[in-house]
Amino acid sequence: MYTTKTLQEEILRLKKEHDICILAHAYQSHDIWEVADYIGDSYGLSLEAAKASQKTILLCGVRFMAETVKILSPQKRVLLSHSMAGCPMAEQISADELKALKKEYPGYTVAAYINTTAELKTVCDVCVTSSSALKIIKNLDNPDILFIPDCNLGAWIAAKVPEKNIRLMKGGCPAHTGISAKETERIRALYPNAKLLVHPECLPEVTAQADYAGSTTGIMDYAKQSRDKEFIIGTENSIVQHLQFECPDKQFYALSKDCICSNMKLTTLMDVYRCVCGTGGEEIILADDVMEKARRCIDTMLTLG
Ligand code: 13P
Ligand code: SF4
Repeated sequence: MYTTKTLQEEILRLKKEHDICILAHAYQSHDIWEVADYIGDSYGLSLEAAKASQKTILLCGVRFMAETVKILSPQKRVLLSHSMAGCPMAEQISADELKALKKEYPGYTVAAYINTTAELKTVCDVCVTSSSALKIIKNLDNPDILFIPDCNLGAWIAAKVPEKNIRLMKGGCPAHTGISAKETERIRALYPNAKLLVHPECLPEVTAQADYAGSTTGIMDYAKQSRDKEFIIGTENSIVQHLQFECPDKQFYALSKDCICSNMKLTTLMDVYRCVCGTGGEEIILADDVMEKARRCIDTMLTLG
């Protein structure tokens, strides 16, 4: 029988022995954080993936993140920690539907949230993440932008970059859009001294009430650096626990008990162990032409971001 500690020790030993780099998205559980080489938001994971020297990269998170790693490092073996871990938002528009949409908006630059499939990225011009979106959209030459698929992140960008004409579609994250404006007002009233930090995937009427909106890393950095002592966290609830570990002198409250990403929750420490043993996870295989075409919009993101 294993304990968390003995299993972590085995993972740390095996990842070294098999030359594996573990990249974990911030929404992964704390026991996985403790064995990872790097923890971060989608943008940080892309940067680390491009830099990693190991032959194998294990991505603990969801499929589009592992696909991004593979596209950036096609010569490496890339594993997704759990084969069922997808992001529902990534599937909300198909490449064929986007091609039809592009005909309706000729001359528009297609900016895709990184939460999209590799296949969809092949027909987009540029990718953005929540932490890089404002800079990238500002840096685009074209004033006309078709933003897919998250209309909430898109509306947040549009409000901050009014000089651009941004068209949105009706996509969004099921976990973040479940938080209502009413619920937000109620929690704010319950903790009047707390700063409200939210992810821009939340509804605009929720983001409008926030003291800070930004990526998962942005939210954590804000809370760590702030002199304030209480925070309401409007993103996946794992971030509440991570911040409690990182800042034991501060108080963190979940904005909603239901802001849970069931896909991010799928990976367990035992899954990570099986991956480093070579018996678990899913190797990401993408066609060469898909990687080549999808890479253009990821490279543009890295250049402009
Ligand atoms: P970040 O880029 O902030 O990590 O967001 C990714 C995501 O899926 C949030 O739901
Ligand atoms: Fe996708 Fe939402 Fe989960 Fe992020 S929290 S991975 S956007 S479903």
